[in-house]
Order: sequence, then C-alpha cells, then structure tokens
Amino acid sequence: MADHDVQATHAANAAPLVVAPLSAELPPELLTGHQQLDAEHRLLITCIANLRRVCIDQVNCRHCGDCDPPRRHHCESHLVAMLGDLLAFILEHFRTEEEIMRDSLLLMVDRELCQAHMEDHAAISGKVQEIVAALDPMNTAGLIRQLDALLTRWISNHITLHDMLLARWVLREDSVLRRASLPPG
Ligand SMILES: [Fe+2]
Ligand SMILES: [Fe+2]
Repeated sequence: MADHDVQATHAANAAPLVVAPLSAELPPELLTGHQQLDAEHRLLITCIANLRRVCIDQVNCRHCGDCDPPRRHHCESHLVAMLGDLLAFILEHFRTEEEIMRDSLLLMVDRELCQAHMEDHAAISGKVQEIVAALDPMNTAGLIRQLDALLTRWISNHITLHDMLLARWVLREDSVLRRASLPPG
C-alpha cells in the first residue's frame, strides 16, 4: 500500500494515534533534558503502548487467518491508521532534530557525528516505510511485531546513542540554544 493510501485511509476512519496520556513517561535513562525532544520521545512511547493494544495476542498469533474477518479488519485498519500517524510524526521529529543540529552549529563542529545521526534517522524511516509497503490483512500480527521491535530498538539505541549527544551539545553552558531548550522550572 502506498503512503498516500495509508494517509487517506487514516484520515477517513481513524482517531489520531498520538493522544498522549499524561502518564506516558520516559524512563530516566532516556531523558535527554531537552524539553521538546523529551516531549516528542514521550509520544513515541505512547505509540508503542497503543500498538501493543491492537492485536488480542500479538506475541503468539502466527497467522491472521486464525481470527474472524471483523477482527482482522479491526486490526488492519488500526495498524494502517497508526502507520499513517507514525510516519508523519517521525518525519517531523527527525526534521526537528536535524534543524537543531544546524541551528546549534553542531553540524559545523562535528559533521561526522551528525551524519551518523541523520543516517540512522533515514534507516528508521526506511524501515517504517517497508512495513507500510508490506501491509497484508493476513499478516497484521507479524507486521505489528516487526513495528514493535523497530520502535523499541529505536527507543533504546537511537536515543541513548544519538539524541543524547545532540541534547548534551545544545544544553552545554555556552550554547546559543540553551535557554529555549531547558524544561521550565
Ligand atoms: Fe535522532
Ligand atoms: Fe529523537
């Protein structure tokens, strides 16, 4: 299914995915201290929580043919809606971080570091797009597992490896962007 089909289907029949409950909290080791990045990473945690609620047995369900057609339709339409929201969200989130790299001058100071960070962004969004392209009503459970693994890996590896360094740079004492990036209080 093409990206625009995903977006169109989502617009037609789904509530927004990212209705973040206030309880969506980041584990302390994933807090960067950068107000906007942490808020957006919280939304990602919410995406994972929502995704895990779609299939009645995401861990053990081997084939969606074992479920009845209404159930299959429910799962597929929810996954399609989530993928539409998720793609829009991650593209926007990555754009924000890449803008911060430029505005904070990190891109000039350490181009190689930023390049690796941006390449990881491209790899993550490429994988989400592969999942979109593989949508299949008989394999929704398998795709949910793949997406869950991808998002969980992103949370644990990408944030600790890449986003943390970016935030540390922005929040250092003499940073031009420091004041705007600190959480209130
Ligand atoms: Fe990032
Ligand atoms: Fe991030």
